[in-house]
Amino acid sequence: MNLELSGKVALVSGGGMGVGREICRRLAAEGVKVAVNDILPDRCAAVVAEIVQAGGEALATVCDITNLDAVRAGVADVAARFGPVDILVNNAGVVPERRTGEIGRPTFLEMEPRFWNKIVDLNYYGVMNCIAAVGPSMVERRYGKIVSMVSDAGRVGEARMAVYSGAKAAIIGFSKAIAKEMGPHRINVNTVSLSAVAHENPIAGFQKMNAKADTDETLRKVLRNYPIGEGLGRLTSVEDAADAVLFLVSERSVYITGQCLGVNGGFAMV
Ligand SMILES: NC(=O)c1ccc[n+]([C@@H]2O[C@H](COP(=O)([O-])OP(=O)(O)OC[C@H]3O[C@@H](n4cnc5c(N)ncnc54)[C@H](O)[C@@H]3O)[C@@H](O)[C@H]2O)c1
Repeated sequence: MNLELSGKVALVSGGGMGVGREICRRLAAEGVKVAVNDILPDRCAAVVAEIVQAGGEALATVCDITNLDAVRAGVADVAARFGPVDILVNNAGVVPERRTGEIGRPTFLEMEPRFWNKIVDLNYYGVMNCIAAVGPSMVERRYGKIVSMVSDAGRVGEARMAVYSGAKAAIIGFSKAIAKEMGPHRINVNTVSLSAVAHENPIAGFQKMNAKADTDETLRKVLRNYPIGEGLGRLTSVEDAADAVLFLVSERSVYITGQCLGVNGGFAMV
């Protein structure tokens, strides 16, 4: 399948690790010029180096996506060096409930209110900031693909991840609204909903990335919630996530907008 992505310019937030890193690598392999964003310079540099070494084109856009001015400056730099952004993948996001307060994963009522902003800032404002920064140029050029990574927590709710669930749900509603606003300008806006992903980040990634269902009882139990995952004997991989994103930013999905595509092994069927 020809995705017709060669020569396009993409910006991937949180591209320095996990799902974002794989999306960057796969876009670059399709001939896309990739601006790798991350708040951590070392992570950005490592992914850029990996892509360049493989013969692709990439540059680092180090900024905190919760800061609109910083995002605008980053996007201007990408435009000057690579050209205007055609593809935006809003990938950066975290589950900081696990890292807040005195206990590991507080319920909403146990959580200190001072942590709400942090979660909403990154998971929701970060998405709005990036879209605000790239949107005007997309409208002007009548071309754009926007995909935001969300979570089944935002579609069905996840106990002890209440604020994160709310922030991800907000992105889904917001994306549908702007899909209606931007569709007439030929801009596709979609979301990809993940569940537990097995990858290298010990905090964000599920810890069973190397486990095999035939030998690991815990993984077998977890997979009972993932019908096709049970059949395949594994959790969602970063490759599964990147496959969906590549399709949604390609010319093979021009008539798809305002949709939320679950890449979740069947965990939530909504
Ligand atoms: N890992 C999972 O199991 C899972 C499940 C459902 C949904 N998701 C979603 O998928 C996306 C990717 O998840 P992941 O597990 O690969 O994340 P990750 O935590 O492994 O990587 C996120 C990257 O974003 C960067 N980042 C953090 N704050 C930033 C900021 N303010 N500005 C710029 N960059 C910042 C981090 O440095 C990191 O490199 C997220 O939106 C996440 O909510 C993940």
